[in-house]
This record gives sequence, structure tokens and C-alpha cells, in this order.
Amino acid sequence: MAFEVKEHLKPTGLVGISADQIEQHWGLYKGYVVQTNALEAELDALRKDGKEGSAAYTDRRRRYGFEYNGMILHEWYFGNLKSGGSEMSASLKSALESRWGTLDAWKADFMNTGKSRSIGWAVLYMDPETKSLSNHFIQLHEEGNPATFVPILVMDVWEHAYMVDFGAAGRPKYIEQFFANVDFAKASTRFSDVSSGKIPVRG
Ligand SMILES: [Fe+2]
Repeated sequence: MAFEVKEHLKPTGLVGISADQIEQHWGLYKGYVVQTNALEAELDALRKDGKEGSAAYTDRRRRYGFEYNGMILHEWYFGNLKSGGSEMSASLKSALESRWGTLDAWKADFMNTGKSRSIGWAVLYMDPETKSLSNHFIQLHEEGNPATFVPILVMDVWEHAYMVDFGAAGRPKYIEQFFANVDFAKASTRFSDVSSGKIPVRG
């Protein structure tokens, strides 16, 4: 099965994040889709040729997780952006308050997670088994994602996510603008899906 670019997830009219910034970032997302498809084909071909023990196979195997999860995280990320943002549900708010004390404390923790001195991602994850919420910093796309946990809110903090608008030192300003455009209604749907035992669709 070849993956396709999920055009309907492309955000428009964001407040304080330019169309040019989104356009360039979207191009990188498309690259992950292309590379994931290419690697699936390459791995198939190498297997067919009996080259599973080759250096090429090992290399493609490693890159597969990077490209595949790069594609997935970008879909969650673009899917939780909306011009001007939206309101979160009372149940998500209450879950965040019960875990962090206050909504502001969760937000500060999530923002600080995103300010980690590294390229990467800040992700509010939910454990479908315990229903607990936790903020995680993901460095490379494929490293640090807790298996089976579901992303509720994803923020890209690779430099390409903000360089166009805010420059290399602009991450804090970008994070402020990210929060001006968070589709909390979408995050709330993801949360209620996981709460009721459903796996939310990322796009
Ligand atoms: Fe990105």
C-alpha cells in the first residue's frame, strides 16, 4: 500500500504563522511520504534478492522508522492546527488539571518540553491502558515514542517548523504562536476516543 499526502490536513490562515512557513514545512512532510513509500519498495526488493544481511538492508531498515514516523508525526501535528485555534472539551481540561494541578501548569510544562535544547517534538501522549496523560520530548521521529500511546497534541520544534517566520532563535515566539492556533477541539476528540477505547484517526 502506497501512502498518500493528506492534503486535507494542510492548515490555512494561521495567526502569526505565515503561509510561506506552512508551505515549506508541508513540502518536507511530502518528502517523508515519498521516502516512506520508496523505502518500503527498496526493502521489498532487497528481501526478494535475498539481501537481508547486507549493509544496505540494515541502513534502509534504520531509515524506515525515521521516515515512517516522520510522516505520522507531521500528520498529527498539521491535524491539530487550525486558524485561531478552538476550545478544548471540559473532560480534557479536567484530565489535564487532575494530572498537572492547573491547565496553566500543563501548558507551561508542554511549552518547556518543546524548548528542550534539541531538535524534536513535544507530544502530549495518552496511555490507552491507564488513560494517563504525559508530556514527552521526542528527539528523532522514531525515538522516544511510548509504544501504543496515542498523541493528543503534537508540536513540531525542529528548526524548519519556525525558521522562515522566526529565525534560528525564534522557537519561544513560535511556540506562543503555535498555541494561538491549537485545534483543541481536535485534541479533545482524540482524548475522548482514547477514553472510550477507540483509536483516533490521525487524518
Ligand atoms: Fe516538521
